[in-house]
Amino acid sequence: MPLLPLTTPRTPAEFAAYYRLRYEVLRQPWGQPEGSERADDDPAPTTLHAMLTAPDGSAAGVARLSPTPESGQAQVRYMAVAPAWQGHGVGRQLLEYLEAQARQHGYTECVLHARQAAVPFYARLGYAVVAPSHTLFGTIPHFLMRKAL
Ligand SMILES: CC(C)(COP(=O)(O)OP(=O)(O)OC[C@H]1O[C@@H](n2cnc3c(N)ncnc32)[C@H](O)[C@@H]1OP(=O)(O)O)[C@@H](O)C(=O)NCCC(=O)NCCS
Repeated sequence: MPLLPLTTPRTPAEFAAYYRLRYEVLRQPWGQPEGSERADDDPAPTTLHAMLTAPDGSAAGVARLSPTPESGQAQVRYMAVAPAWQGHGVGRQLLEYLEAQARQHGYTECVLHARQAAVPFYARLGYAVVAPSHTLFGTIPHFLMRKAL
């Protein structure tokens, strides 16, 4: 499958597509209300949003990068690939882009809290499990993972 265009959402329509996919993949299946896919620091100037757009204009994959309180450390959050696009390199393209951006901004380490089912994906991309972390919605175990950039 050809590589899809990678953009930073800017227009209201692009942000609508961005949040729609976040909601559909990461919140709706667990009965969470619309709006629960948004984070307080999404609009912060230090938060970088990335999106791959499908030919029909919908989002094929989304993710974001933001600083953590630890010096030199950035965090990837809200990584979501549309079911029809999973397994076609979309997640890899997004993660590698965010890591390149993190490196350019001087970060030396990337961390994330992976859902249990996504741990093998992040491991394939060079992340190592540090420790179990929280359980989301009472049912989804997460694992803190890290990668030196
Ligand atoms: C997890 C997720 C982001 C992966 O994105 P994706 O586009 O499907 O993954 P890619 O096609 O880019 O896979 C990249 C590599 O990881 C491997 N991989 C992906 N998922 C894997 C899995 N579950 N187990 C083992 N390997 C996996 C692929 O085989 C591929 O390897 P290759 O490049 O050597 O061929 C995506 O499936 C998803 O959104 N899942 C549902 C939501 C979710 O769990 N998000 C993460 C929240 S922490």
